[in-house]
Amino acid sequence: MNRCVIGLQWGDEGKGKVVDILAEDSAVVVRYNGGANAGHTVVVGNEKFALHLLPSGSVRPETACVITSAVVVDPETLIGEIDNLSKKGITLDGRLFISENAHLVLDYHKKEDQLREEALGKNKIGTTIRGIGPCNADKVGRSCALRMGDLHDIGHFEDKLSAVVAYKNRIFKALYNAEPMDADVILKKCKTYAEKLLPFTIDTTEYVHNALAAGKSVLFEGAQGSMLDIDHGTFPFVTSANVSALGMPAGAGVPAKLVNEFVGVAKCYTTRVGAGPFPTELDNHIGQYIRDRGHEYGTTTGRPRRCGWFDAVVVSYSVTIGGIDSVALMHLDTLTGLDELKVCVGYEIDGKRTSFFPANIEKLAKAECVYQTLACWKDDITGVTDFNQLPANARDYIGFIEKTIKRPVTMIGVGPNRKQTIFRRP
Ligand code: GDP
Ligand code: IMO
Ligand code: MG
Repeated sequence: MNRCVIGLQWGDEGKGKVVDILAEDSAVVVRYNGGANAGHTVVVGNEKFALHLLPSGSVRPETACVITSAVVVDPETLIGEIDNLSKKGITLDGRLFISENAHLVLDYHKKEDQLREEALGKNKIGTTIRGIGPCNADKVGRSCALRMGDLHDIGHFEDKLSAVVAYKNRIFKALYNAEPMDADVILKKCKTYAEKLLPFTIDTTEYVHNALAAGKSVLFEGAQGSMLDIDHGTFPFVTSANVSALGMPAGAGVPAKLVNEFVGVAKCYTTRVGAGPFPTELDNHIGQYIRDRGHEYGTTTGRPRRCGWFDAVVVSYSVTIGGIDSVALMHLDTLTGLDELKVCVGYEIDGKRTSFFPANIEKLAKAECVYQTLACWKDDITGVTDFNQLPANARDYIGFIEKTIKRPVTMIGVGPNRKQTIFRRP
């Protein structure tokens, strides 16, 4: 059984938790997109892991972990994560495989990200400042790109790095009047990266295909969420890659037809960090209630997340474009205690009703939400493990979402812990 986990909203849906759970039945977990802009949380007992680059399967000692060529790798963050797990007694030796073709996120990418955002002022995207956009731009531009495998020949790497840093410095000076960066300082760090990371690098496409051919169960872990997809999300307030399910084949180097189940992950409400349109946003005490109860602060940047009602137009769009088979709905427990719940079932744009998401922010800015109101529940549900034990209103809420998005809800989160999950199979 090969599965792929995909975020259906604007990220932070709870993919880390779902991947950790599904990894129990998987021999290999493959992270195939994004970079250290992602923050995937796994909670096991009293231990909490916040992973940015390592696949969420890495906390399970028997699971092989792959980082493919489409992941933009910040070596410093990755080494920090490997060391952190090692301190907790979890070693990745012999089971972590990093693509030799993965592009490197270096200091000048982060600086460029920051300078660009500052220059944009009130029009900023609200990026994570992890250098993701600039690194992907260098990848597509090709001439300035440096990849993991380039570290094998450090002399050649040094030549290329010097040229790239000189080029970047000219841009920093001309556009932002910023201080130049020192290529030697970056090179010194890169020598350490080479020493620590090259032992893990291989041809990951070959590795994953060998695993598939051997009948091993492979789990593909998506980062970000479908609304942040560069082509199909809320452009320009998106990330710099195809992070909906459509990006999985290219990111993993594996055709979608080899994936038996695409599992979409959504929260029972909606959150977003960074700027951009958010039709169901609750900029009021209800949004604050959700933020407080759900601890809605970014795993990567610590920024407060914007919170709003569940938007079935958004989730229906993500499941439709991505061919999602089943859905995991997280954070049901966070809604407990509200007076009532609303689900957005359509938009009115210029007097016309639509239930198909318009991925055009001029149209989206004019969208007025059409809501269905449902009853909430008061009982604590954080210990419930059987769907039938949930309060009737909670079951009705899930049932309503299922009917509206036309996909079965097969997992329900009632707390951050691995065990706080209700499983349902149709
Ligand atoms: P990801 O980026 O999709 O992996 O999600 P994040 O880890 O960034 O954010 C999800 C947050 O919600 C994390 O703090 C999780 O521990 C937490 N979480 C996941 N599922 C649930 C749930 O069902 N209930 C509650 N209360 N917290 C959850
Ligand atoms: P996970 O995998 C939430 C958002 C940023 C910003 C936009 C562009 O944890 O769900 P970038 O740094 O990628 O150029 O920022 O994308 N963003 C995320 N939001 N969760 C994420 O990842 C995100 N990765 C990027 O907040 O709005
Ligand atoms: Mg996250």
